[in-house]
Amino acid sequence: MNAALDPAPLDGVDEAHDPDVVIRVRGLVNRFGEQTVHDGLDLTVKRGEIIGVVGGSGTGKSVLMRTILGLQTPEAGRIEVLGEDARAGNRAARQHIERNTGVLFQDGALFSSLTVGENVQLPLKENHPELPDTFRYELALLKVKLAGLPADTISKLPSQLSGGMRKRAGLARALALDPPLLFLDEPTAGLDPIGAAAFDRLIKTLQEALGLTVFLITHDLDTLYAICDRVAVLADKQVIATAPLPEIEQLDHPWVQEYFHGPRARAARDAR
Ligand SMILES: Nc1ncnc2c1ncn2[C@@H]1O[C@H](COP(=O)(O)OP(=O)(O)O)[C@@H](O)[C@H]1O
Ligand SMILES: [Mg+2]
Repeated sequence: MNAALDPAPLDGVDEAHDPDVVIRVRGLVNRFGEQTVHDGLDLTVKRGEIIGVVGGSGTGKSVLMRTILGLQTPEAGRIEVLGEDARAGNRAARQHIERNTGVLFQDGALFSSLTVGENVQLPLKENHPELPDTFRYELALLKVKLAGLPADTISKLPSQLSGGMRKRAGLARALALDPPLLFLDEPTAGLDPIGAAAFDRLIKTLQEALGLTVFLITHDLDTLYAICDRVAVLADKQVIATAPLPEIEQLDHPWVQEYFHGPRARAARDAR
């Protein structure tokens, strides 16, 4: 990118060239008709962290993720992912981001008519058409096992799996290209507490073993306390704070107070 044309304030440091920043969002504006979802939103995600993104329902967490991924065009703002401009119509930049990010969408979004193995092989087919079929199959099998699924899951259809297994299959597909950056939208929603805790541990283990950076949208307090390094709070159309949990808990904001000091928060904190 051309730093000379970079109009944004740099917080006193030469942010533009910080290799430890994996995602940088500045001045993001998203609107749907009359509704303003984001209004001057800033967010910085650092290399190697699990950042938990929280906020009330409808505050724009999923829209933020989709915008960062370049799946949705914002009205204004600057977004960099892995040093590339995510908004650029630039094909090379888009391809770089796509090849280096894995995504688990809120609804899982596996193709129901394809087996787990075929689902996991899709990104490999799209991005590495030169690979022989057998090699692709072996890679898919590896990812299925990495996601904690038994090997025979590879030939099953999504409808033959439990909710927790489908999430893991979605994770296997997200990991298909060995991305350094992983996006997860409410991965433990709909799982029972034991399944959710196991999924949290899996994410943490993978993050440590593979050195991943994880952008994790969640409303699951247990997840926040168990695995997140920092938490970004969406409220009032912005990220009102990004900090480790002990600092977030102290914020003088009505939603934060209610969320982090209600009975469920107490239970999650005590369970650590
Ligand atoms: N494609 C869309 N068209 C119109 N409105 C949308 C669209 N996507 C999201 N919204 C609205 O934007 C707001 C934020 O949505 P979302 O990011 O999904 O919230 P959440 O924080 O629960 O993930 C909601 O009010 C939603 O209805
Ligand atoms: Mg959402």
